[in-house]
Amino acid sequence: MKHRFQIAKSPRLITKLAESYRLKGMKVGLVPTMGALHEGHLSLIRKSSQQNDITIVSIFVNPTQFGPSEDFARYPRTFKSDCAKAKSAGADIIFHPTVNDIYPDVFQTFVDPGPIADKLEGAARPGHMRGVATICLKLFSICKPHNAYFGQKDAQQLAVIGSIVHDLNLDLKIVRCPIARTKTGIALSSRHAYLSASDMKKAEVIYDSLKLAKKLIAEGETDCGQIKTEMTGLIKTAPEVKIEYISFNSWDDLAETDSIISKTLISMVVVINNVRLLDNIIVSLKI
Ligand code: PAJ
Repeated sequence: MKHRFQIAKSPRLITKLAESYRLKGMKVGLVPTMGALHEGHLSLIRKSSQQNDITIVSIFVNPTQFGPSEDFARYPRTFKSDCAKAKSAGADIIFHPTVNDIYPDVFQTFVDPGPIADKLEGAARPGHMRGVATICLKLFSICKPHNAYFGQKDAQQLAVIGSIVHDLNLDLKIVRCPIARTKTGIALSSRHAYLSASDMKKAEVIYDSLKLAKKLIAEGETDCGQIKTEMTGLIKTAPEVKIEYISFNSWDDLAETDSIISKTLISMVVVINNVRLLDNIIVSLKI
């Protein structure tokens, strides 16, 4: 039995709907987003709609994960076209609450994800992961999904969500989805709305540098310092591309590593025209 496409603002209504589907034995999938949907988001929605009877897509630009000098106010908001795109990718319900629905005047509880949130994006954006953890726990409580879909693009976010699900005994499965890229290899991002065509051209060097790392590792290089030097050298050939960080971490616990181990996350942020662009790959040591 398929559901009629529906847009709802009210958390209570979404909870009632989700409960009624669960009672009927239907599987509920959730795809949390902040809107400005692109092919990356749509790949998550498609996967959820293949694996569940009902897919809820939340569209909410979450103020608590933005720092005071960040882009909350100017973050792209394209709700109408988002709905059409989400529907055609298989969404059944769009959950689009207001800030007041989620954070009413009386609100004081936040989720502290612990040390896993203090490095990488957490170090660069203090409070960011706390805001992400809090909104995701709220979305899980409201939408009651069996499965929730997150992109590898935000690798630390995925790890933090996995950790809170484990630590807080949440009864749902987190599904990791691969990074969707442009034809030229750039990891798709809603923040591309801020970039010109020539900025996008410069951004190609990001994935080129990750492919270079992969090649070096395939040739037997295991020293992360050496790999980072080569990646930095390549990125420096592109004009006006600033490296914020390149980091090597164990994918199991995000501990920093000096040499390539089985399942190493190589993650990086570069800044082009004041826009932070994230990308990563997970590599394995071939023995
Ligand atoms: P947002 O940036 O809108 O991303 C929503 C989901 O889409 C995240 O799981 C993200 O990793 C995934 N995604 C983004 N770009 C992708 C790409 N190129 N390929 C594959 N997946 C991609 O991440 C957030 O929103 C927020 O932090 C949120 C989890 C919704 C909490 O507010």
